[in-house]
Amino acid sequence: GKSGYEHYMLKEIHEQPTALRQTLSGRVNEQAGTVELEDLDGLAGREPAGVQLVACGTSYHAALYGARMLREQGIPATATIASEYALERPPVADQLVVGVTQSGETADTLSALRTAAQRGAETVAVTNVVGSTAARECDHALYIRAGPEIGVAATKTFSSQLVTLRLLTEHLTNGTTDGIHDRLATLRALPGALQEVLDETQAPAVAEEYVGADGYFFIGRGYNYPVSLEGALKFKEITYEHAEGFPAGELKHGTLALVTNETPVIATVTGNDEAARKTVGNVKEVEARDAPVIAVTDGQTDVARYADHVLEIPDSHPTTAPILANTQLQLFAYHMANELGRAIDKPRNLAKSVTVE
Ligand code: M6R
Repeated sequence: GKSGYEHYMLKEIHEQPTALRQTLSGRVNEQAGTVELEDLDGLAGREPAGVQLVACGTSYHAALYGARMLREQGIPATATIASEYALERPPVADQLVVGVTQSGETADTLSALRTAAQRGAETVAVTNVVGSTAARECDHALYIRAGPEIGVAATKTFSSQLVTLRLLTEHLTNGTTDGIHDRLATLRALPGALQEVLDETQAPAVAEEYVGADGYFFIGRGYNYPVSLEGALKFKEITYEHAEGFPAGELKHGTLALVTNETPVIATVTGNDEAARKTVGNVKEVEARDAPVIAVTDGQTDVARYADHVLEIPDSHPTTAPILANTQLQLFAYHMANELGRAIDKPRNLAKSVTVE
């Protein structure tokens, strides 16, 4: 049942701290600075020439985040929308091909994995469902362990995918990259930090204020770029309102023409690195055009000065802050959809797993 929550989606958003503890359980050896993934025997420390991630929808956003993380740790990696990958069939020599699919049954992702396997690639399924088609067909199955997700909108499975891709990255580079102790300590702190976001969110009041706008733009850079894509997708899926997510740097290259005082801009700005500071610059540009600004931030830049509302998150590592920020975006979408009386757990025209190409 829904354990007292009005919708499965809200229940599953609140289950994220537990889901992440399960994802991490028994896999991290903080003292040694290593990650052990029982599901990936034979891959540890054997760096592939490259990693190709394939996925659809929300899982594609997780793949973008994972690919960035792999590249940052020195492994060439790409994220490709599965339906395009299956048509294009890129070269796979010495590549590890990773299908990110919570259900393990998405036809496009299965098709991409099959074309890669046929051409000799070693394949991994990153999935939530034991015994799913992807888990059975791939050489390796890496379970995200989020627990059952009933709502069509993916929430806790997305967070668990991000953490699992972090673990996969550490596993492939075991003990060989700087900063591992920091990263592992932040992962341990993540469930507690996420609980803090859930307990203190201002999302219901902020969402209520912006019902009925002309459109909603979600912007971010770096790791917050996939988070912005995900924020917009979730928002469209359950509110039926028009939204667009994109890298903040792209604003000036077209979309800025649509920005008015009727188009709230939701900017995710975490940390105080170059990506964060440049996003603040973009926030100033939309503020100058009278767009309402909602900043999702840990307060490390002065973005709040240019924002009408702030959705706060606690300080965190650059790779975990996006998970906390995304939780605020999930709640923002949820409360807006609830205001609008939408069928949140079963949005029109959509299915939990898409088994046709
Ligand atoms: O089961 P999968 O992870 O392969 O599903 C892929 C997409 O259909 C899925 O992530 C979809 O975009 C979400 N339900 C959106 O919330």
